[in-house]
Amino acid sequence: MKNNVNIQRRKLLKFAGASAAALATFPGLINAKTMKVGSHASSDFKADVEISLTGEVKNVAIFRGPKTHVWKVVGKVLKGDKSAITNEESYLAPTIRLHKGQKVRIYLKNELPSATILHWHGLHVPAKMDGNPMYAIDNGETYVYEFEILNRAGTYWYHAHTHSLTAKHVYSGLAGFFIVSDDEEQALKLPRGEFDVPLVIQDRNFDQQNQLQYGGGMRMKMHGFLGDQILVNGTPEFELSIATRAYRLRLLNGSNSRIYKLAWDDGTPFKVIGTDGGLLERPETLPYITLAPAERREIWVDFSDRKVGTELTLRSSEFPSGGMGMMGGGMGGGMGMGGGMRGGRGGGMRGGQSHASEDFTVLKVRVSKKSSSNDVLPKRLSKVKALRLADAANSQSPRRIILSMRHMSALLNGRSYKMNDIREDEIVPVNTLQLMEFNNGFHGMGGGMMGMPHPMHLHGEQFQVVKREVRNKSGRGYTSVSEGFLDKGWKDTVLVMPGEKVTILKPFNDFTGIFMYHCHNLEHEDMGMMRDLLVK
Ligand code: C2O
Ligand code: CU
Ligand code: CU
Repeated sequence: MKNNVNIQRRKLLKFAGASAAALATFPGLINAKTMKVGSHASSDFKADVEISLTGEVKNVAIFRGPKTHVWKVVGKVLKGDKSAITNEESYLAPTIRLHKGQKVRIYLKNELPSATILHWHGLHVPAKMDGNPMYAIDNGETYVYEFEILNRAGTYWYHAHTHSLTAKHVYSGLAGFFIVSDDEEQALKLPRGEFDVPLVIQDRNFDQQNQLQYGGGMRMKMHGFLGDQILVNGTPEFELSIATRAYRLRLLNGSNSRIYKLAWDDGTPFKVIGTDGGLLERPETLPYITLAPAERREIWVDFSDRKVGTELTLRSSEFPSGGMGMMGGGMGGGMGMGGGMRGGRGGGMRGGQSHASEDFTVLKVRVSKKSSSNDVLPKRLSKVKALRLADAANSQSPRRIILSMRHMSALLNGRSYKMNDIREDEIVPVNTLQLMEFNNGFHGMGGGMMGMPHPMHLHGEQFQVVKREVRNKSGRGYTSVSEGFLDKGWKDTVLVMPGEKVTILKPFNDFTGIFMYHCHNLEHEDMGMMRDLLVK
């Protein structure tokens, strides 16, 4: 413990030296309390559940043959309900399951050969518990998180958030599900247990020795990383064996950059019941789902009419996405996030960044047994309190955030990420509702040839999408994905396509301090497409 405090103090000195200007402007930012952030458990916080999470280098079996070196989080429940943690066999971090109102203390131990920190994506927690990169701990150190689960039931997740290394760390394995339940959700008759399945979709590249490969130079950075091997829950060629009944499937796009356009191969439409911040008011029917990095969709799938022995495939289809892919040439102009997939292990393409127009399989569902029971999809799922424009502190003057890419950088309002660099327009009064807009070349700015889709994410409380405007509705990149958007309910990440402007209402309640906003294309994030907001 003593050692820990010393390390924290050393870090603070470094931090203070580098940010004298910021300190002069915001003296409240650093005080005696800040010194001890995360270094010890506080006696006045009575945890219902205590968990330890250790980041370590491990070898896991992903393919036949050599095991794969990954960075893995291993979890243990130290106090309270043991079901709070499920360790995964794959490289995934353990699935955390907690109930609204529970108080949790999490000891993050870093046994990795790099500084790191974990962020609880989508959770409304105090700034110091949010996993801001400035709280990264070195190998051998421990960070203690303490917070109450304030979120409603939903499919959240957590991942590494280390300065300029988030993409690499998440790619290496540092990400997992964080599932919250609450009384309202429990009272509904939704599929439970083995019929409630979290599914995280990721793309990776592996070399001949089954080792993860990451890289690809500047082109890779501008696009983001696109891998040629799809993994679901850390497993290639994933198959879900199901019974003939209804399932709740929780889809998470845990990829660094790839945007999926998901559809069942037999054309069955989706019944979407939830999104980033939990259940919708009522189910929505969509022909396909456009799922950007970090976004979640919960779907209700009724397999009761299916025949035992049959299978169904969830595919992702090609769509034009702008950016350098457009200039890549070839393949009928249909380049984009389709990427070049290899046709399973051993065949297809290897390495490099290909942007051929291809469809690929995400997962297969195999109907393997008859079920005697079933659930009925509730007409009404939850109460979603609609945020009102009139309640915004700035309803007449939205906070404008311009997304742009230039040369070797990805920018927000022309700025790159820098720690402790909060500007006037990045200060938000606490306990206010804010109107914000993300402009991705809507007025022709920042878009053009370099226009790229940007999944924009804000830390802290979930927000609601007010409107989505597009410069050219008939643009191919737009119409090919727009029916798969779902802007209802609570969101923490919203995809802003080239030529679009998306307006949101975002609450900043309860907690002061630094909360980030950034593009969740992790390569863009690491290139600097990230900024801090100071809530005070
Ligand atoms: Cu999912 Cu700032 O992150
Ligand atoms: Cu987040
Ligand atoms: Cu981006």
